Amino acid sequence: MTEVLPDKTAERGPLLSVQNLTVEFKVGRGRVAHAVSDVSLEIYPGETVGVVGESGCGKSTVGKAIVQLVKSKSGSIFYDGRNLAQLSGKELREVRLRLQMIFQDPISSLNPRRKVVDIVREPLAIWKVGDAASRQSRARDLLEQVGVDPDNAGARRPYELSGGQCQRVSIARALAIAPQLLICDEPVSALDVSVQAQVLNLLEELKQEHQLTVIFISHDLSVVKHISDRIVVMYLGRIAETAPAQDIYERPAHPYTYGLLAAIPEKVLALGGETSAAAVSGELPSPINPPSGCRFRTRCFRAQERCAREVPELRPIAPGHEVACHFPLEPGEIPPELASK
Ligand SMILES: Nc1ncnc2c1ncn2[C@@H]1O[C@H](COP(=O)(O)OP(=O)(O)O)[C@@H](O)[C@H]1O
Ligand code: SF4
Ligand SMILES: [Mg+2]
Repeated sequence: MTEVLPDKTAERGPLLSVQNLTVEFKVGRGRVAHAVSDVSLEIYPGETVGVVGESGCGKSTVGKAIVQLVKSKSGSIFYDGRNLAQLSGKELREVRLRLQMIFQDPISSLNPRRKVVDIVREPLAIWKVGDAASRQSRARDLLEQVGVDPDNAGARRPYELSGGQCQRVSIARALAIAPQLLICDEPVSALDVSVQAQVLNLLEELKQEHQLTVIFISHDLSVVKHISDRIVVMYLGRIAETAPAQDIYERPAHPYTYGLLAAIPEKVLALGGETSAAAVSGELPSPINPPSGCRFRTRCFRAQERCAREVPELRPIAPGHEVACHFPLEPGEIPPELASK
């Protein structure tokens, strides 16, 4: 994690600016899943932004909408000052080279019929970067950089490698054409715990080496803690809270963030002991018919009548810290609603 937050007044401006992004999926019989609703976020060059929330809250959809893998219903996505929706096919393909995404399931996201070295070389061949010999040597270099031995593993197919090795190969492929923004969608969730830290460390090293800006998606707040400068907490398609990583862990203001933290064993004591263990109970409601007002209200320990009527807007409560809640927690507060249980 970098010590200094990016200077938002810097002339450069954000690398990525997502404004009021809304994505809906038709799910049959006239029904619509409100996967992402009115999400706005800005990512500055060099930042690592963690996007967290339970499975189904819209994290992957945000990532896919940014790289144009899913169509948005409304809103805009500016990359390096250019509105992706207004680019021609050729321009968009060029910009997309700068935006790469890696996915949770490394084995199925790699072509099973191709050799590892060819998988990494493929983007270079498609974009006709250098000649055949230089592409081969770059692919081998990239494999070495991600800790996969090109002599030993280069000629193998993905199913002959472990999940961790496959994820390294997909990282190498994503880096082949010097991306600026890397969107990592649960890149370690399918890996053994012992391998997770290795892949996280690798991403951290590569980020420095390749000067990457990173969006790191995870359902697990403890995974994003060490690598994120800033964290965005999502709930049922909306942003619940966003803040510098340290503030999220030390001064969670949204009851949902508090609940997510309370589920991390080593955080329970810091947040008020046994009182907080069941801070978020029940299932995520369906995005087909989300609750009125605050979408979290059906599971929130401090919901009141106003929460059903009024959608809470994101508003600042401290520098860089925004929360979408009518009754946010005070810094250091142990919610009395939980303490009395
Ligand atoms: N292609 C799709 N068609 C229909 N519903 C989808 C599709 N992709 C995602 N969804 C729905 O959108 C919601 C958000 O999904 P997703 O972005 O994958 O969440 P997350 O990555 O946070 O687990 C979920 O309810 C999911 O079922
Ligand atoms: S707005 Fe109300 S229901 Fe929503 S998180 Fe805040 S207190 Fe809970
Ligand atoms: Mg996902």
